[in-house]
Parts: sequence; structure tokens; C-alpha cells
Amino acid sequence: MIRFVLVAAGLCLGASVVLAQSEDPITMRQDLMKANGRAAKTATAMVRGQAPFELAQAQEVLQTYVNTADKFGALFPETSKTGHETTAAPKIWEDKAGFEAAVAKFGADARKGLADTKDLETFKVAFAAVGRNCSSCHETFRIKKN
Ligand code: HEC
Repeated sequence: MIRFVLVAAGLCLGASVVLAQSEDPITMRQDLMKANGRAAKTATAMVRGQAPFELAQAQEVLQTYVNTADKFGALFPETSKTGHETTAAPKIWEDKAGFEAAVAKFGADARKGLADTKDLETFKVAFAAVGRNCSSCHETFRIKKN
């Protein structure tokens, strides 16, 4: 019985490894960033008063950032420096500690923003703080794309 359980667990592990390999890390990190971009659009419209403020939507925006920050740092293996029209800068691999710190700060600001957001005013403050991470990380760790 124990032997069967171990074999079954081994099979599951094998299956999840195959699944992880079939997804390209560059595509995965770009998809996370695309979700960031969509969330930023939603947030900007609410902050500018072009769309009504919805607390649930504001929280979803910040939750999207938390999710990206949790997964993003692991998607930069040495084998993913080129391909898929990546705009990841070589600096990510040259200054791994700096990059990981930027990801961690983004996650921490998003978590704090999520906890602090109660209404439009608090969301404005949270979104501005999180938003500064987008531009500062892109300036350092992303190749400018014209
Ligand atoms: C810690 C660094 C970091 C932070 C913080 C960050 N980004 Fe990015 N972003 C990147 C990198 C690196 C890429 C390039 C990914 C690639 O092409 O491999 C990127 C790419 C993008 C893209 C292009 C995705 C595509 O390929 O179509 C968008 C849009 C984007 N980011 C939006 C945002 C927004 C909005 C925020 C803030 C809410 C944000 N990013 C925060 C590092 C970051």
C-alpha cells in the first residue's frame, strides 16, 4: 500500500514537471506582465474618474500585482535571455540580487496597497506607490522598445 502511494506520488511529480517544461518561461513572464498592463488600465480609469470606483475591482488590480510578484522572479533561467521578442535586459542576470530585490519590493508594495485600500482615496495612494515600481524596474531591467 505504502509502495503504491509512493509510486503514485512520483507519477504526479513527473506530470507536473512535464507541465512546467511545456510552458516557456519567457511567455509565462510576458503573460504576467500583460495582466499587469491590463490591471493598470483598469486602475487608471478609476483613479481618473473615467470609470466608477469599485472596491472589488481595485482589490483585483492589486491582487494581480501580488500574483505577478510571487511568480515573476523564478521565470528568468539562464536559458531565457533571448527569444520570444523578450525585452528583458541582460542586467537581470548581471545583477540578480538587485533584480530580486526589485521584485520583492513590488510584491511588498502591492500587498501593503491591497491591505490599505478601502475607498478611492486610499486606492489612489496605493496605486501610485505600486506604479512607481513599474517604471523604476523597467528603466533598469528592461530594454527600451520603440
Ligand atoms: C521587478 C521588475 C518589474 C516590475 C516591478 C514591473 N515590470 Fe513590467 N516588465 C519587466 C520585464 C523584465 C519585462 C520584459 C519581459 C520579457 O519580455 O521577457 C516587462 C514587460 C512588461 C510589459 C510588456 C509585456 C509583453 O511582452 O507584452 C508590460 C505591459 C509591463 N511590463 C507592465 C508592467 C506594469 C503595468 C507594471 C507595474 C504594475 C510592471 N510592468 C512592473 C519587469 C518589471
